Amino acid sequence: MRPVRSAVLCRLLPAPFSLALRSLVLVLLCITPRCQAVQAENVTVMEGGTAEISCRLQNYDGSIVVIQNPRRQTLFFNGTRALKDDRFQMVLFTPRLVRIELTNVSVSDEGGYFCQLYTDSTHHQVATLSVLVPPETPTVEVKQEAVEGGEVELTCMSPRSKPAATLRWVRNGREIPGVVSQQDNGKTFSVSSTIRIPVERKDNGAALSCEAFHVALGGQKRIRHYRLDVYFAPTVRIVPPTGILREGDSLSLTCSVTGNPLPRNIQWSKINDTLPERAEISGPTLQISRLSQSYNGTYLCQAQNNYGRAADHYTLLVYDNVSPPTTSTTAVPPTPTTTQQITSHSTTPTLPTPSFAPDPEDPGAVVETHSAVPYAVIGGVLALLVFTVICVLIVTIWCSVRQKGSYRTREPILAWY
Ligand SMILES: *[C@@H]1O[C@H](CO)[C@@H](O)[C@H](O)[C@H]1NC(C)=O
Ligand SMILES: *[C@@H]1O[C@H](CO)[C@@H](O)[C@H](O)[C@H]1NC(C)=O
Ligand SMILES: *[C@@H]1O[C@H](CO)[C@@H](O)[C@H](O)[C@H]1NC(C)=O
Ligand SMILES: *[C@@H]1O[C@H](CO)[C@@H](O)[C@H](O)[C@H]1NC(C)=O
Ligand SMILES: *[C@@H]1O[C@H](CO)[C@@H](O)[C@H](O)[C@H]1NC(C)=O
Repeated sequence: MRPVRSAVLCRLLPAPFSLALRSLVLVLLCITPRCQAVQAENVTVMEGGTAEISCRLQNYDGSIVVIQNPRRQTLFFNGTRALKDDRFQMVLFTPRLVRIELTNVSVSDEGGYFCQLYTDSTHHQVATLSVLVPPETPTVEVKQEAVEGGEVELTCMSPRSKPAATLRWVRNGREIPGVVSQQDNGKTFSVSSTIRIPVERKDNGAALSCEAFHVALGGQKRIRHYRLDVYFAPTVRIVPPTGILREGDSLSLTCSVTGNPLPRNIQWSKINDTLPERAEISGPTLQISRLSQSYNGTYLCQAQNNYGRAADHYTLLVYDNVSPPTTSTTAVPPTPTTTQQITSHSTTPTLPTPSFAPDPEDPGAVVETHSAVPYAVIGGVLALLVFTVICVLIVTIWCSVRQKGSYRTREPILAWY
């Protein structure tokens, strides 16, 4: 009956009216209890997670409900599993709601899931399943090794994410802008960010980090920490003994070495000679017990790595222990030249100045300038003390004189009463 009537109407009315009328008829039909419909909801889920795909039914009258995957393969035929994939489960089938569950979701499961009702007029709805792939902690690759004075090229990589992750290089809380490249690997993306930074030896061990941001991580980020390894040539410094050395004393020289990589072998030698027999080398330290004047000479400490070599020398002068070293006639003022002497690389001990005669047990020049400072200080303090006493005396006398005057002036006033 109905098709005939609508056909008649359609013939009578122009096309737009016919379309409007058909819609109206459909709406009217749906108000009646016999009209059925499905409604599907889009789903977003993380890879490996569980997706729930739901179809809402309206006025379900027991018709067959069919659910199909994006390839239009039937998963469930009215509650009965059709496709052999255990990850799909029908969890609910009521007259209002049909719900299936998909566990261990992979990116290949993405797409539209069809929810279909076989009725007089076939209704279907599509639920779009979207899969998010959060990035793993990124990795850092060194494209060019960091040598002092050069540049280091670092690439931070996030091989798989969906949508593409955002990478950020950070040093001391500040972002270092990188060159970003993104590659589409079908469903997922690989992202990389490359930075080039100049490096000095002070940058050795500096902390950098690469952070990955992604919608699936919420506000969290995945961080890869990286420490700069800057290669540099060694530096060598001999720490000299303080004071002068006499026959019978023992000498201990320590060679302080830096470098990356740290030189493994430290070589001690004596220029134009062989090391004395009594010299003992243990690691960076050269030790000679019971010095004799024949050990006078220049001692050398050398170290090397792949990036260079370095050396420092120390000139040993052994004084005899008979005469005190007071032969010098040039009166050297007790200026603090000793500090220069200690830090300088030319490690020849100078003769102590004769102006101060310290006890012969302690002939070091260092000790003398140290004792010179207290003498000057004590002198100054004494002068100050004397000056203060004189001042106090003057003030006291002056005050007492004034007070006497005031007594005199007060006495007459008291006398009036
Ligand atoms: C579901 O996803 C599809 C494809 O992304 C989109 O066209 C549609 O509008 C979405 N539906 C809803 C209700 O969000
Ligand atoms: C389809 O399944 C529903 C729920 O189990 C049932 O009520 C209905 O009768 C079934 N329809 C047919 C045609 O088998
Ligand atoms: C989930 O699926 C992946 C492949 O998509 C598979 O390698 C993995 O073993 C599965 N995990 C579980 C718990 O089934
Ligand atoms: C080592 O010997 C050479 C030649 O014999 C000489 O020129 C040089 O000054 C000497 N070096 C030292 C530190 O004695
Ligand atoms: C060693 O050096 C001291 C100090 O300059 C000097 O007095 C002495 O003669 C030197 N001895 C030898 C053997 O060179």
